[in-house]
Amino acid sequence: MADNAVQAAAWSPASWRERPIWQAPEYPDAAALTGMEAKLRQCPPLVFAGEARRLQTALGKVAAGEAFLLQGGDCAESFDEFHANLIRDTFRTLLQMAVVMSFGAGMPVVKLGRMAGQFAKPRSSPTETVGGVTLPIYRGDIINGAGFDAGGRAPDPARMQQAYYQSAVTLNLLRAFAQGGFADLRRVHDWNRAFVAGSALGPRYAAISARIDESLAFMAACGMANAPQLAETEFYTSHEALLLPYEEALTRTDSLTGIGYDCSAHLLWIGERTRQPDGAHVEFLRGVGNPIGLKCGPTMTADELLRLIDRLNPDNIPGRLTLITRMGAGKIEAGLPPLLRAITREGRSVVWCCDPMHGNTVTSPSGRKTRHFDTVLAEVRGFFAAHRAEGTHAGGVHVEMTGKDVTECTGGAQAIGDDDLAARYHTQCDPRLNGAQALELAFLVADELKAAKA
Ligand code: PEP
Ligand code: CO
Repeated sequence: MADNAVQAAAWSPASWRERPIWQAPEYPDAAALTGMEAKLRQCPPLVFAGEARRLQTALGKVAAGEAFLLQGGDCAESFDEFHANLIRDTFRTLLQMAVVMSFGAGMPVVKLGRMAGQFAKPRSSPTETVGGVTLPIYRGDIINGAGFDAGGRAPDPARMQQAYYQSAVTLNLLRAFAQGGFADLRRVHDWNRAFVAGSALGPRYAAISARIDESLAFMAACGMANAPQLAETEFYTSHEALLLPYEEALTRTDSLTGIGYDCSAHLLWIGERTRQPDGAHVEFLRGVGNPIGLKCGPTMTADELLRLIDRLNPDNIPGRLTLITRMGAGKIEAGLPPLLRAITREGRSVVWCCDPMHGNTVTSPSGRKTRHFDTVLAEVRGFFAAHRAEGTHAGGVHVEMTGKDVTECTGGAQAIGDDDLAARYHTQCDPRLNGAQALELAFLVADELKAAKA
């Protein structure tokens, strides 16, 4: 279809069904799928349109260079690994990272979890063969089971309902943490102080930690100890909008504006493998009122990106579109500047966010998927360097991380080696930064943000 015909064609929550689709599971029982969609259409929304609009306004500030975005969480959430402590630890680590970054940047940090709905995974092959047996590939707990057995690997629509309820419970806890005193800035800083004291990186970050101490003491001395801004925080949720029957079923028309919002999360993004301009995923997200993200890998050209933006943000609304670049450390230097130039030349308002994870996945000699912490840092440095050279705002980072002490990415101050990976390799999908690596990254970002201001 020609671009203008695509744009003019009426959008509806179901119009994606007329488009070619990639990465869609084949449900063996079509009636069960239809039944589950009907059930989910009756379910309450998980988030409200007004909240999504508030996030868009906050992201508009990022686009304007007045704030920074931190997006992080699991590669994939899991039905089995579902505990309050896991949610708490990831949330806590994100808050700790945000404080450090906010101090470095001297600007607010928008906190956005890959949480409460991040269940569907794009895969590079539709099937997996083990010992001569071929089964459908695992596509995330919302679709099928990870175990290699024919029953569990068959896509099952009932999993959508479990994902919905798990998302609701996770979101409930996140809301309580954000507003119920857990997120108090002084507590978060105490955790950071403990990290700095116990880490090999301590001496390097003691100074910034001490400066935050002083700032908090100064605010208290000015009578701001009870300011609500210190006691609570805003926290938003996001996931890849991959499983469109689920996303469509959770789309509601906002009574205030008459616009359809995907009420499964505040922000939804389009993955690297499903960003075909004429494809189903671009069609679905172009019509929802939520702020949206778009992954941009090393093959993305400036023309292709502009064409996608024409579809996804034709009115050039600040905060509507976050471009999540995931080039790979070795490719960012060549891949990012042409995109930055094209967007600046065309006057498009976007948030530039760096995902230093997905372009840097390797197989370790022991056969596990891993990422080297130094490579992750190298992509972040390359991201800041490119923005500095082009005069654009390095707006955010997007990381796969957990608050737990896992051994999934090599390197970092704990010097996790290939031989250590087996000790606590718990991820459902891609290797995540552990709590200490995530904070180490936050301190590096704080340094870069400070340098960008200078
Ligand atoms: C992801 O973010 O988990 C993911 C699959 O990323 P990408 O689409 O960039 O490969
Ligand atoms: Co991933």
